[in-house]
Amino acid sequence: MSQPNVLLLGPPGAGKGTQSSNIVQTYGVEHVTTGDALRSNKGMDISDLDVEYDTPGGFMDAGELVPNAVVNEIVKTALREADGYVLDGYPRNLDQAEYLDGITGLDVVAFLDVPREELVERLTGRRICDECGANYHVEFSPPEEAGVCDECGGELVQRDDDTEETVRERLSVYDENTRPVIEHYDEQGELSRIDGEGSPDEVWERLHTAIEERT
Ligand code: AP5
Ligand code: MG
Ligand code: ZN
Repeated sequence: MSQPNVLLLGPPGAGKGTQSSNIVQTYGVEHVTTGDALRSNKGMDISDLDVEYDTPGGFMDAGELVPNAVVNEIVKTALREADGYVLDGYPRNLDQAEYLDGITGLDVVAFLDVPREELVERLTGRRICDECGANYHVEFSPPEEAGVCDECGGELVQRDDDTEETVRERLSVYDENTRPVIEHYDEQGELSRIDGEGSPDEVWERLHTAIEERT
């Protein structure tokens, strides 16, 4: 079969980015992530949409969803160019899920399940490399030298939306908007539920097995 199309669902901090790297390495697919795409375009002028903020960054720093019109377009373009992908951070509401159904076919839909208390800890302790985007955690996966990227020597920084206050808002936006998306795929019998607790390697073992079963 050609490269698989994988949808990776889960709340903020569930490990979608971390596990996407494993999927990319193992299957040679494209990592399509709306979060990273939007972070690279935080200052884009979207004032013509006449919405609450004039840029994606306004929504992101408040922990709210960027308007569908912006993200749908990003995903459509990225998927068109990909031969197999892992999609991370999208869809986040039912309208996006419906849009996605219309533009692609999914081989695997996996949901990373992690309890709420652990999510807050994972997010507030996350650090990312300013240069190459590599992902760390001050406690759970620290770099060899504090504040310095193992991969490239770049500086490790905290994401603007990883403060405790914004994290809580992101989690409540998730409960309200994204939980129904999980139920949507579950009802269709497509959802592989993965226990997202334990070390990243343990989670990968479970996820890898689930992908193999579905492809
Ligand atoms: P986005 O960037 O997608 O953020 P998110 O969904 O909140 O998810 P995160 O990236 O925070 O978490 P993750 O699951 O990738 O976890 P990670 O692997 O890093 O979106 C950001 C914003 O963009 C949104 O709030 C919204 O404004 C906007 N946006 C994006 N998509 C949108 C859309 N479709 N529609 C509208 N708006 C959109 O892991 C987290 C930490 O935990 C790391 O430090 C990691 O090292 C650690 N960790 C990972 N796995 C483990 C483990 N097993 N044990 C211990 N620690 C672990
Ligand atoms: Mg992520
Ligand atoms: Zn780096």
